Amino acid sequence: MSEKETLIIFDTTLRDGEQSPGASMTREEKLRIARQLEKMRVDVIEAGFAAASPGDFEAVKGIAQTVRESTVCSLARASEKDVRTAGEAIAPAARGRIHTFIATSPIHMEKKLRMTPDAVLEAAVAAVKLARQFTDDVEFSAEDAVRSETDFLCRIFEAVIAAGASTINVPDTVGYSLPEVWGARIRELIERVKGAERVIWSTHCHNDLGMAVANSLAAVQAGARQVECTINGLGERAGNASLEEIVMAVRTRADLFNVTTRLDISQIVPASKLVSQITGYPVQPNKAIVGANAFAHESGIHQDGVLKHRETYEIMRAEDVGWGANKLVLGKLSGRNAFRTRLEELGIAIESEAQLNQAFARFKELADKKSEIFDEDLQALMSDEEVTSINERFRFVAACFHSETGEPPRAELTLSVDGKETTCRATGAGPVDAAFQAIESVANSGAKLLLYSVNAITTGTDAQGEVTVRLSRDGKVTNGQGADTDVIVASAKAYVNALNRLYGGVPNKLNPQV
Ligand code: KIV
Ligand code: ZN
Repeated sequence: MSEKETLIIFDTTLRDGEQSPGASMTREEKLRIARQLEKMRVDVIEAGFAAASPGDFEAVKGIAQTVRESTVCSLARASEKDVRTAGEAIAPAARGRIHTFIATSPIHMEKKLRMTPDAVLEAAVAAVKLARQFTDDVEFSAEDAVRSETDFLCRIFEAVIAAGASTINVPDTVGYSLPEVWGARIRELIERVKGAERVIWSTHCHNDLGMAVANSLAAVQAGARQVECTINGLGERAGNASLEEIVMAVRTRADLFNVTTRLDISQIVPASKLVSQITGYPVQPNKAIVGANAFAHESGIHQDGVLKHRETYEIMRAEDVGWGANKLVLGKLSGRNAFRTRLEELGIAIESEAQLNQAFARFKELADKKSEIFDEDLQALMSDEEVTSINERFRFVAACFHSETGEPPRAELTLSVDGKETTCRATGAGPVDAAFQAIESVANSGAKLLLYSVNAITTGTDAQGEVTVRLSRDGKVTNGQGADTDVIVASAKAYVNALNRLYGGVPNKLNPQV
């Protein structure tokens, strides 16, 4: 086989992934994920949609200032304001990209944009030309390419290449395609578009029919050299193509692909855990590569085979993708320096001595309850630190729960509301329900509980429970997280955190595609 070409990994967890309901992240949370993506050697990080809100602008700019090894990209609709805002946000980057897009399918042009094809083409060319004034690295996407006419796609792609685009992205925005069809489509475009050899061809597939990864891989076999994907397959509706599956498919079936990636695959599991922890989207246990059971052999025959020769049933090695990398790190006797050093190694920035002191005090509290502290515990602890500081209208102070057979469970909580402590009580169907009702008796938010989930952060009965609560009110959806060795306390913290976000911690923002 000839020498392999590079497959560019374009991660859009911080942009498309963030479009998942309730997955909005703060600037600090985005920075933590961006540092992990850089450590994993992702080629391009789509840091956000700078024009969505001042918070998004600051997040993209912060990532552009921090990340040195990966290209930092901002999405921009094909409008002057969006492109200028994106240009300003990526200005501090070592390598910055503007990703501009406009819809090209008849249904989107007529019903959503209310623009003629000629006007769409003109807007695309103008956006690319303007973007080139900020950076040489300009990507153009034809939104809903899957339902666009091939002749029109060829026309618009030729025009934007002539205007200076260096990456052409072909999205299956609605997750409609199938691998054979998608591969043929990409091949045809590369063959027909004049100037195709001067650009990188890219694909961006959604997972509505469960085909995102298969379609992306078919595109790679047809000549695409960039894949847009997200950690854990996070993204709008059913999500995007999952980064870990694409990277491991290309690597494990190197016999079928003429490409290789630059990724440090040992960072895959830590990245998956971090994204899950920050967004509150748990990873299903049977998820490929990063699910808790992905490498667990349950049946006797499989176990016997793996013990005799692991390759009987294993096509990849768990430790290669980062399973088991999160070793026992700290304990009760660890000092401040060891604590600070490990946080730095995990890419968690400590901004001040005061923040370090506060975090260290909480670490000591945790170490009193739990003898072994793992990386995941530190990540949860620091997530808690960040989320409690986003907008502390409500703060969990203390709690007392009572559960007895034949008696309704009772909860009594002390909360700080706008800086003033108050006690509230309620009974409920269970202690968690009682805790939530007690909080609501003070908050009166009227929010609807959309999701409640508990995950053990590490193994063992002394593990911290990590709780996610998703609330919705007036069209705004927020996720809250809380971690504690007591799952009811973790639940109360998660509810309070979701409330704080609802009351302004993470603002409602513009979705670029709506
Ligand atoms: O799904 C999509 O079409 C997108 C574009 C903005 C690339 O996310
Ligand atoms: Zn998308």
